[in-house]
Formats: sequence, structure tokens, C-alpha cells
Amino acid sequence: MLNKVDVLNAILNIKDPDLDKTIAELNAVKDVNIDGNTIKVYVELVQPIFTVYNQISNEINSAITNLYPSVEVEVNFTERMYDLSKRKVLKQVKNIIAVASGKGGVGKSSIAANLAGALSLTGAKVGVLDGDVYGPSQPTMFGLSEQPFEVVEMPDGTTMAFPLEKYGIKVASMGMILQKNEAAIVRGPLLAGYFSMLFEQLEWGELDYLIFDLPPGTGDVQLTLTQKIPLTGAIIVTTPQEIAVADVRRSIAMFRKVNVEILGVIENMSYFIPPDAPDKKYYIFGEGGGRRVSEELGVDFLGEVPFEILTRESNDSGMPVVLREDAHNQRKVFNDLVEKINKKIRLRNFKILQLPVMKISI
Ligand SMILES: Nc1ncnc2c1ncn2[C@@H]1O[C@H](COP(=O)(O)OP(=O)(O)O)[C@@H](O)[C@H]1O
Ligand SMILES: [Mg+2]
Repeated sequence: MLNKVDVLNAILNIKDPDLDKTIAELNAVKDVNIDGNTIKVYVELVQPIFTVYNQISNEINSAITNLYPSVEVEVNFTERMYDLSKRKVLKQVKNIIAVASGKGGVGKSSIAANLAGALSLTGAKVGVLDGDVYGPSQPTMFGLSEQPFEVVEMPDGTTMAFPLEKYGIKVASMGMILQKNEAAIVRGPLLAGYFSMLFEQLEWGELDYLIFDLPPGTGDVQLTLTQKIPLTGAIIVTTPQEIAVADVRRSIAMFRKVNVEILGVIENMSYFIPPDAPDKKYYIFGEGGGRRVSEELGVDFLGEVPFEILTRESNDSGMPVVLREDAHNQRKVFNDLVEKINKKIRLRNFKILQLPVMKISI
């Protein structure tokens, strides 16, 4: 006879690998249902679940089939998340990640596009917002023309605009509301006003992640933006050339000022992989700079991204390199980054879920 208590005992010590707690401690098992020869387990995990649910599902499966070798096991997952409805903007976006850099040209947009691609490959719903008014690059990286938004008048008189979509990823840029000649004259406070409009009127629908490609730098515009948007966390991109300690320090100071968690530093263009010798790595600008800077400044180092011709070609031709099935190296690099980022986000979301209900918006 199949027995619910035995099933529970067999699975309750399985751990959530990110939170390092058992599913019993997390009160994650919502129900066990025995239906003939099928055992159905209902599990609720702290959101986002995409990089952990396969592993947990496999462990539950083998624990139960060890106990009852001939049963069918079905594991169903739901997400546990704090209340987003009190937010002023982006109420349907579960995680908002800012990608920032002290300087332009370090590959911030390339990293943002590929993180979006890698996240979407895990099954998540993803959007990318390009905040660089003077040099937007997400439309190019996703092969979309800089066409203006389709603006729709709603029955209540307000207007809504809709992002474009490519490869299942939603993409929007400031350039889509500003004409080229306008962009050059829109600065400072006026720009912040445009962004507010963008956040209030742009209809993303439900998203697991919004990647926000911030304008480069750490000035007033960036500060205002990070204050206005309910950011989950920030990623700082640097290159080894500059060993840009001062730049990274400024970015960190900016996010700390507005209490945004720094998820970590990504070093881009760390080493060169020659296309004719793909197992070689040339650390042209020296090795380990990003890691040292991160340690010095007390933030996590998330990883190194190689400098590669395929990446540059893919960026220019309108498809983030990780979406190419033959881009094995790049997929591995970005999957590792996504796992680390998700772990930090899940730990953060778990901490917030433990807090007594708060009045501030998050
Ligand atoms: N890892 C990389 N390998 C090859 N080319 C890259 C890499 N990262 C960025 N690039 C290229 O470098 C240029 C600048 O990158 P971009 O992402 O636009 O920088 P930023 O947004 O910081 O100004 C672009 O042509 C981009 O395709
Ligand atoms: Mg850019």
C-alpha cells in the first residue's frame, strides 16, 4: 500500500540548493496526492525557480522511486513571491535587474542582451529595456529597427505602448519614444521625466525578469532612475583593461546610496579565444583584475566573459550570441552567470518573504 507519510519522510530532507535549507524547513511541500499508481507532489519554491526546479524534481523522483519502484511520480511546482501589487510601476515584473557600468564601450549592452537570452533559455519570460538615449543598442542586438512604439488609447483615456518582441524576448528602448533629433536635446531632469513616462505607460505584461540596460555613468540621470524603479538588484560590468577600480567603486556607491543590492561584478572581454584554436585563452590585459577589484570593494565576482569574434558578429547581426545553438562556450559562460545571479536573487526574495509585511514598496 502506498502511504503518504512514508512519501513525505522520503522527500522532506531534500534541499533547495540555493537557499541551503530542506524543503521541510522551507515548508515547501504543499500536498502529496496518491492517485492509483501515481504519486503527485505539489511543491512551492521561492521565485525565480527556473534554475533549480529540475534538480529538485529529479531528487523527489528518485527518493520516491527508491521507496516504491513501480510508481509514477509527478512533481508540480508553484512560485512563492512577495506582494508586488503595492508598487507604483512594473507591478507584473517579478525581478528587475539593472546592468550598469561607469563607462561606455565596456560591453554593458552585450552582457544585458546575452543575460536576457540565457534567462529566456531557462524558460523564463524576459524583457530588455535599453535606457541609453544617446546610443541605444538593444534594437540592433535583437535585429529590430528603431521604430516608434505602437501607442494605444485605452478606454479610460490613458495611453499605453507595447514593447516589440524577438526570439520570445520583449524589447523596448528610449529611442522608440524619442525621435533622433529630440534625443540630442533631452537631458537631465527632462530625461528623468521621459523615463517616468516610459515606466508608467509601457505595457510589458507578466515578466519573470526585466533587464534594464542603464545609460553608462553614475550621474544624476542614473541615480534618479535607480530610485524610481523597484530594482531587485544591480550588476556592474567592467573590462580588465582599465582595471576600472574607480569606476566600479562609483557604481557601487550609487546603488548603495539608494539601497539597491549589488548582485555582483561581471568582467567582460577578459580573454581572447582565437576562432582557429578554441581551446586557447589569451589574457591580453592580465588575469584576475575583476575578481581582485570585487574582493577589494566587498561585492561578489560573478565571472569572466571572453572576447570573441562570434559574439561581436552576433551582436551586429541581430541575435545575442547565446541564442545560437552552436555557441557552446558562450552558453556555458552565461548559464554559469545566470545560476549565480538567480541564487542571489532567490536568497534576497527569501529574506523579504521572512520579513513582517512591510509598508515600503519593493
Ligand atoms: N565579449 C565580447 N566579445 C566581442 N565583442 C564584444 C564583447 N562585448 C561587447 N562586444 C562588442 O563591443 C562593442 C561595445 O559593446 P556594447 O555592449 O555596445 O558596450 P556598452 O553598452 O558598454 O557601450 C560592440 O560592438 C559589441 O558588439
Ligand atoms: Mg550600451
